[in-house]
Amino acid sequence: MQERLKELQTEALEKISTAADLKELNDIRVSYLGKKGPITEVLKGMGKLSAEERPKMGALANEVRDSIAAGIEQKQKHHEEAAVKQKLAAEKIDVTLPGRPVKTGNHHPLTRIIEEIEDLFIGMGYTVAEGPEVEKDYYNFEALNLPKGHPARDMQDSFYITEEILLRTHTSPVQARTMEKHEGKGPVKIICPGKVYRRDNDDATHSHQFMQIEGLVVDENIRMTDLKGTLEVFAKKMFGDDREIRLRPSFFPFTEPSVEMDISCKICGGKGCSVCKGTGWIEILGAGMVHPNVLEMAGFDSKKYTGFAFGMGPERIAMLKYGVDDIRHFYTNDVRFLKQFSIHE
Ligand code: PHE
Repeated sequence: MQERLKELQTEALEKISTAADLKELNDIRVSYLGKKGPITEVLKGMGKLSAEERPKMGALANEVRDSIAAGIEQKQKHHEEAAVKQKLAAEKIDVTLPGRPVKTGNHHPLTRIIEEIEDLFIGMGYTVAEGPEVEKDYYNFEALNLPKGHPARDMQDSFYITEEILLRTHTSPVQARTMEKHEGKGPVKIICPGKVYRRDNDDATHSHQFMQIEGLVVDENIRMTDLKGTLEVFAKKMFGDDREIRLRPSFFPFTEPSVEMDISCKICGGKGCSVCKGTGWIEILGAGMVHPNVLEMAGFDSKKYTGFAFGMGPERIAMLKYGVDDIRHFYTNDVRFLKQFSIHE
């Protein structure tokens, strides 16, 4: 019996030492240490032993069981550790591998110009105002001193939706809306960027939809010199300190007097080239002193209040600033074009 137990022990330990995985170890445990296993089987013969031998045999059987169990446990640990090691090796990260570059987007050049202009005017105490793109004829024209049938309406070919509603042709209706909200009390100091629409055939310099930035200041004692000073700060900030401005008489029904502002041509330095069409000057924006009729219609006392307004096209400013030769580049959104304005590269 003793021999049989020793035999079983050797046999089991041998199997344990060659067990390839945790499952095999478990099978060994079940077959050797289970209730129906060979050790239990051997111990069934204990009854035949003498009272003296019985406890010895019992002790030996326990010893064999314990050594098999210990063997299994040890091997099990070994397998578990190996499994962890293998897992770690498989999941190892090569920190020396170069990373995959993440493609970053950038602001659209027009957005950048608009934000730059907004920042400049916010710095001078202006706030940013907004108005609807689908606008009433009243705000787009009538409140701006352009009654129905006024010939100057032809300056801006319009997309009408109904007889009284149209896509705004400029951002000037925001002037009227903002003044109305102030209920006759100054100061008003706003800048208003937004989309506008005109019935134009698209080409390199025209688009049926484009952007404008409107400016409006209304207060007591606002003079033409305030307008000129403001525009000069703007022009130098956007185009460089070496640029000159000039104001030319012009006409807008909602300003009186009206002007157009030119800046000196940087390319030829004023001598005349193809960009400035030989004049040495480049037209940038329209402006003027708010017409008394416009102030009155919006509820302001034109004897007490005066104001100035200006309107410009950020596309034109971006084209001049960045040397873009076709306005359509801003709308077709070819990434090769847009990427040139990235600040990340
Ligand atoms: N609204 C005018 C235009 O679109 C520009 C302008 C704005 C002129 C404000 C004078 C004052 O042509």
